[in-house]
Amino acid sequence: MNLIEIMKKRRSIREYTNEDIPPEIINDILKAGQLAPSSKNIRPIELLLIEDKNTLEFLSKSRTHGSTQLKNAKCAIITIADTTTADAWIEDASITMTHMMLMAQYHNIGNCWIQIRMRKDDNNKLSSDIIKEKLGIPKHYEVEAILSLGISKTTLPPQEWEKTEKNKVHKEKY
Ligand SMILES: Cc1cc2nc3c(=O)[nH]c(=O)nc-3n(C[C@H](O)[C@H](O)[C@H](O)COP(=O)(O)O)c2cc1C
Repeated sequence: MNLIEIMKKRRSIREYTNEDIPPEIINDILKAGQLAPSSKNIRPIELLLIEDKNTLEFLSKSRTHGSTQLKNAKCAIITIADTTTADAWIEDASITMTHMMLMAQYHNIGNCWIQIRMRKDDNNKLSSDIIKEKLGIPKHYEVEAILSLGISKTTLPPQEWEKTEKNKVHKEKY
């Protein structure tokens, strides 16, 4: 499969089977994240792999909505950034997430970006803060997002490339 095919096929998959993801595939996804570029090559991004069912359930409740799929995910990768060392950490974290999503798709593993930065839980607490406290992440780190992963239970049609190109690309002038 070439890269454009992987990009077209990548969709947000929120339902997973109970099957295990082979460890070498999880390693590939983590590697892809670590291979992402960063502004000034500061590399402020770190990743936390979560496989424990109780922790996945806790994470699934870390937001008012939009994170329930974590309960049935096989694992999740939390993307965190040391905000004291880099000013472009949001961009760095986003590229890291994108690399991991594409690698997951390459291996046909269902995945979905779950936004954490600026989101809150049912008690109006910042999701980032409650996750940092629970998992011992230092205070000066920020949680950008979580990637949920599992063998896909559902299939979604590939993205409609022609639509995207027509609406969003301008040439020479807006
Ligand atoms: C920055 C960002 C934040 C997102 N946050 C969530 C989220 O919190 N929960 C969720 O289920 N999906 C989330 N998504 C997935 C989007 O809803 C999804 O990418 C979009 O609807 C397009 O669908 P597709 O990924 O299947 O092409 C997020 C995606 C991005 C890029």
